[in-house]
Order: sequence, then C-alpha cells, then structure tokens
Amino acid sequence: MTEPTSPSQPAHDADWWQTAVIYQIYPRAFADANGDGMGDLLGVVSRVDYLAALGVDAVWLSPFYPSALADGGYDVDDYRDVDPRIGTLADFDAMITALHGVDIKVLVDIVPNHSSNRHAWFVEALASPPGSPARQRYIFRDGEGPDGSQPPNDWQSLFGGSVWEPVGDGQWYFHLFAPEQPDLNWDDEEVREDFRTTLRFWADRGVDGFRVDVAHGLVKDLTTPYVPWPEIEMMQRDDGSHPLWDRDDLQLVYQDWRTVFDSYDPPRFAVAEASVHPSRRARYAATTSLGQAFNFAMQEAAWRPDSYRAVIEAGIADMVESGSTTTWLLGCHDTVRVASRYGLPVPADETPIEIARRWLLTDGTDPRCDSDLGLRRARAAILVLLALPGSVYVYQGDELGLAEVADLPRDALLDPMAFRSHGREKGRDGCRVPLPWTATGTSYGFGGEPTELPQPAWFADVAADVQASAADSTLSLYRRAIAARRDLLRGLATSEPALTLAEPAPDDLRFRRGGSWHCVTNFGVDPIPLPDGTVVVSSVALVDGLLPRDATAWVVSDEPAAS
Ligand code: GLC
Repeated sequence: MTEPTSPSQPAHDADWWQTAVIYQIYPRAFADANGDGMGDLLGVVSRVDYLAALGVDAVWLSPFYPSALADGGYDVDDYRDVDPRIGTLADFDAMITALHGVDIKVLVDIVPNHSSNRHAWFVEALASPPGSPARQRYIFRDGEGPDGSQPPNDWQSLFGGSVWEPVGDGQWYFHLFAPEQPDLNWDDEEVREDFRTTLRFWADRGVDGFRVDVAHGLVKDLTTPYVPWPEIEMMQRDDGSHPLWDRDDLQLVYQDWRTVFDSYDPPRFAVAEASVHPSRRARYAATTSLGQAFNFAMQEAAWRPDSYRAVIEAGIADMVESGSTTTWLLGCHDTVRVASRYGLPVPADETPIEIARRWLLTDGTDPRCDSDLGLRRARAAILVLLALPGSVYVYQGDELGLAEVADLPRDALLDPMAFRSHGREKGRDGCRVPLPWTATGTSYGFGGEPTELPQPAWFADVAADVQASAADSTLSLYRRAIAARRDLLRGLATSEPALTLAEPAPDDLRFRRGGSWHCVTNFGVDPIPLPDGTVVVSSVALVDGLLPRDATAWVVSDEPAAS
C-alpha cells in the first residue's frame, strides 16, 4: 500500500522537529551533579557528551520549576524560575549553552492547566474573599447545602477523590488532578497574558520549543446544571462537546500562542500532550496550532503486527490531515517501562498497559514477566519507530533497556496516583528511579545518596558505562540506529511517499522508506527471510541470514524498488 506523499525530511532547518529524535529528561532522576541525591540541571550538563553520543536532536525536560513535588514537579509554584534544589536560572543558561554547543535543541514543559497550590496567585486567592479578582484566576464555586459544606457536584478527579476541595468559607476550588494542583481559569485574560509572558520568557532564554502538558484541558464549561458524573467519565469525544476536555474554543488559545511562537526566528515549536479522540489529534498538530501532538497509540499497542500496522496507518493519516509530521513513542514518565510491558502475557482483549498496571499492584510478581523477551521486543520496537516518518520521543533509560522497578516498597512511593487511588494503582514511580550511570560507586554514578526513589541492585548490570563498551548492548543499538537513521533520512528525496507498507501478513510487518530502506519485523516464532541488500541495523544477530523471532532489521537494497 502506498500512502500519500508527505515530507520525509524537513525542507527548512527551522522545521528540524519534524523528523527529530527527542530525548525526554525527567530532571530529578537523570543525573545529580551536586551529590544531594536529587538530579539537577548541572547533572544534565555533566551528561551532554552522553546525549551527543546517543545522537539525539533535542531534549525535552519535564518540569524543573520550584515545586513541592506533590505530582513530580507538575505542580508548579513559579513558571519562570528553577527549583533551588536542582539549580538556578544561571545553571539553566549553562545547560542550554552546553546542549546547543553539541547541536542539541531544548524543549521545556509548560503546565497551563493548573498551577500548584503554592503559586503566588493561589495563595492570594485563598487570602481573598469569594468573588474577588484573585479567585477569578482559578475555578471557585459555592458549595451545596445551607452552609456550603457539600461539594458543588460529584465529579471525580483523575488521581482519585472529588475534583472539589473546600477552602473553609463555603467555597470550593476545582482540580482535575491532585488537590495541590488547582485548575487555572482560562476565561480570565490575566491567565492568558501570563502564559504568553512565560512562553516568551523561555523562548528569550534560547529554548527551542515546548511540550504542553494536558494540552486538551485548560478551557472548560462549568455552567449549571452540571453534567452528571457518568457522562464526565467518558473523556474522549469526537465533537468537542465534553465540558472539561478538548473543547473547540481551546484552539483559540493555541492560535494565540502560535503568534508568540512565530514572532521568533526560527519559530518556536510545540508538541501537545493531548489525550483526545484520534479524529481530533490533528487539530493540535495543525501548523496554526501547536504544530505537533503526541500519538500515544504506539505506547498502548500490543506486540502484534496487526496492532502495529493499525497504529502506523492512523499516524500516517494524522500527518496527511494535520499537514504536520506525527510522533512515535514507546514510553514516558507516566507509563510502565516498555521492556517490562512487552515481557508480560497479554490476552487479546486487553492492552499491555492495563496488564502492566495490574502486575505492578503485585510488585511485579503476577503474572510472571519474561524480562529477556520484553527487552528483546523493546529493542525490535524502537527500530520500527526510528524507521517511521515523523519524530521519535525516547524516555530516559529506555535506551538502556531499563525494566520497570516493580518492587518499590510502598512507603517509598512518591506518586499521588499511588496514595490517592486507595490501592487501585501503584503509580508511576517504577519508571522514575534515578538512572544507573556506572556499575559501581555511589548511587550507580547518579550522584549522591540516598536517592529519592531506591535503586535496585540489578542496576549494576545495566549501567550506561557497562553498555557503552558492549557492542551488543541496548545503548549501542540505539546509538547505531539513530546514526543510521540520520544517514538514511538524508538519502530520501522529499518527493518520496512517506511510507510504503507491504500487504498485511500474520507474523511480520514490512515497510519501505523511499526506494531502498526496508524495515522488517518478525512478530512470529519462525525465522524469516529479509530483502536482498545490506543489513544496516538489526535488533539481534541474524541466524543463517534469517531474521529470528521478536526482532527488527533495516536493510538497504541495492536495487531501489519503484514507489
Ligand atoms: C501530565 C503529566 C503527568 C502529570 C499530569 C498532571 O499528564 O505527564 O505526569 O501527572 O499531566 O500535570
């Protein structure tokens, strides 16, 4: 099947992001330069050579702003500063200079749906009377009952419990996530202006782009009578009719941001975290809106050729509809690590993420995780992603093939999802454990100790220094594949079809970029033949020239196929 033409590589340098490999840094768990057990910005500086050797085009930093860490930093006290525990604005500038020095771009995370409850505006709102301008910046409502002691309605927050929190004077404030994350009121012009200021603040400091947190939130319709709870629970709709998510007029906010982005040369770039109905994703990725949107479908896909194929076809359709490129990712700071997900048995009617979350509740004991198989599939999967048209996001540690730290003790957990769900979720800490840089030494080379989350003893075997010198390691595979991808993309003509998928087959997935770059994945048990040509990268060694099970190879054929 031949898909419509779409740029295989950017026509202009300013469009670097269209085909970029972007590495997600979760700053407090990446590298700790000052040895206090918490990752910091100078820690990033200390690992710039590692990032350059990996070959990524950009890094996206999860929030590094001042925060009480009620939600891992996604509870922001001040949008235009650095948490003093992890650095200063001067450190930030040093980090940008160091990264730009090796041609790595920088994205920062913007969290516009909610601030923290320690933000100066929220502190002022609490100290101000009902109806005051300070309360207008958030979503306050009178409680029910004669004394306002009941919440305005029965809606539930995403982390568990009511979306409403009382403030003691008959009013309640609204929070989609934790109570420490009050939602901002996007009908308030001061809120809109403040975010323009924040975008300019970071863009002026040299930031190349933004990842927009909960980009499908922000604008809400809280007119009464309130919509009943079960309807609220159905979050993804295809018509913009949900009172809280993905409303049509939200795009006005992003069109406004676009004028900010485009006032820079080169224009700044943004990617939306938008968990929306697939038919609505292109709105966020439009060039008049944020420019790109995360496509989480690959992260949710089962390791089967039909699921992969469906996700790829939908992603290509998105590209055509939005006029932008799409994104591919296997993991992030919110998801059980791919190397563990793919080691778990998955019944046909469930997704690996659902299974993995249940498995976490048993501390990783039930069902049994085949970690060798999971890693083998994760290696095959990243080669699929890196061969697809568009951008690839790599979550820190996935390039080491890290498994989920599933057995973290309950009393060590930090994620509000764990303790607000009353035992229904173990939460997201198992993918946020500080990285192992060296096989020996304090906190496996991360920095100081104790680390915020305890590191397991098996980190010694998978540390970056061990992998850097082993040709067959996952780190070496990532390095080879990212370098080969860069060369291969250069060889594609812009007029080529974005991708040519072969006919569906029960056990394999094959597609071609341009005339001669073939990507073949074996999802079955028996080894399969590859096209004639040179094997440029393979996720495992071939056996008698055949591609074994749970593996991907890239082959460049000598004779280009007609498109
Ligand atoms: C996004 C972040 C997640 C956070 C939530 C609330 O989904 O990725 O980590 O908990 O927003 O800010």
